[in-house]
Amino acid sequence: MTTPSSSAPKPRFTFGLWTVGNPGRDPFGDPTRSPVDPVDSVGLLAELGAWGVSLHDDDLVPWGSSAAERDRIVARFGAALKEHGLGVGMATTNLFTHPAFKDGAFTSNDRGVRRAAIGKAMRSIDLGAELGAEVYVFWGGREGTEVGVAKDPRDALDRYREAIDVLGDYVDEQGYDLRFAIEPKPNEPRGDLWLPTVGHALHFISTLARPDRVGVNPEVAHETMAGLSFQHGVGQALWAGKLFHIDLNAQRIGRYDQDYRFGAEDLKEAFHLVRLLDRAGYDGPLHFDAHAYRNADAADVRAFAEGCMSTYAALLEKARHFDALPEVQEAMEAASVAELGLSTTTGVGEAAELRAAADDLEALAVRGYGNERLDQLAVDVLMGVR
Ligand code: GCO
Ligand code: MN
Ligand code: MN
Repeated sequence: MTTPSSSAPKPRFTFGLWTVGNPGRDPFGDPTRSPVDPVDSVGLLAELGAWGVSLHDDDLVPWGSSAAERDRIVARFGAALKEHGLGVGMATTNLFTHPAFKDGAFTSNDRGVRRAAIGKAMRSIDLGAELGAEVYVFWGGREGTEVGVAKDPRDALDRYREAIDVLGDYVDEQGYDLRFAIEPKPNEPRGDLWLPTVGHALHFISTLARPDRVGVNPEVAHETMAGLSFQHGVGQALWAGKLFHIDLNAQRIGRYDQDYRFGAEDLKEAFHLVRLLDRAGYDGPLHFDAHAYRNADAADVRAFAEGCMSTYAALLEKARHFDALPEVQEAMEAASVAELGLSTTTGVGEAAELRAAADDLEALAVRGYGNERLDQLAVDVLMGVR
């Protein structure tokens, strides 16, 4: 189930153009920072040592640009990527800003909107392929409702599936080498979104025409908003062979979608996550989908981006240090951590023995699992006292 961490690849950090370029607008206030030229974001990220960028179609090519403008913008951006040696981790479609998407995109009740949404995604897939994106993300920002009687969830899921299947056909027809990743989120900006958690998305994928092409893009903030363990959601995605991409940020339970700098909240859960990704040998993009606080200026945006990466790198070091400590290995032994990796039965023909094993419950109840000590060791390592 695990691979030794020493064989794990070097982290490939990426940032969305909308993250370091975030102008600090919120539902209550105007932007606090000036718009950033995507080419300048490429320069900044290269300088800070990131591996690459990700983008929505509209982040790069403003909606409404002419074909000639589009080509000029894309060529200039492609040249900047090349000059700075940055890759494109993922591309995606903005299916949430335009007023036409107010009732949803792939799941709008209006068939015309659904067709336009698929068409916009096709154009955006072309852009992603042109820029060499390795993953194509679907985040259903407007795919949901506030009104329970306005949409039958079964119809909405049929339409969602239809869109992903049609776009999968499109990728095949065009001969693009692109994998899809669905990004779950429980709510915001809609009252309730379809595919609210990693678990919902994993099941949905199993119903697609080509499930192999499609994985998930879990986000720290989104599972945390739902009050779930991010480590467990990511663990199940890894277990299913479906962790195609990941969105890293920080979030407190019970709040609006905060999108804080990675590690800004719940460092312990972040430690668990980094340790899990390392042990699983995850080598996809480590994508920071976060933004600086609204009161940040340009220098602080730089500190934000540096902080995301340095915290990840420090937690990776801590995770490896933790597993190498002899006292941790002893505590793991006492907790029978490795024993969970052993199969429980040898297969068929054991029913009589298993039935008899139930007589052992009293004896089995006596032992302890040393979890207090084990967890404190993790806390000590995180605090730097061990
Ligand atoms: C959010 C989402 C988005 C998506 C992005 C790419 O909560 O707003 O996380 O940032 O990740 O649109 O699909
Ligand atoms: Mn988000
Ligand atoms: Mn995201």
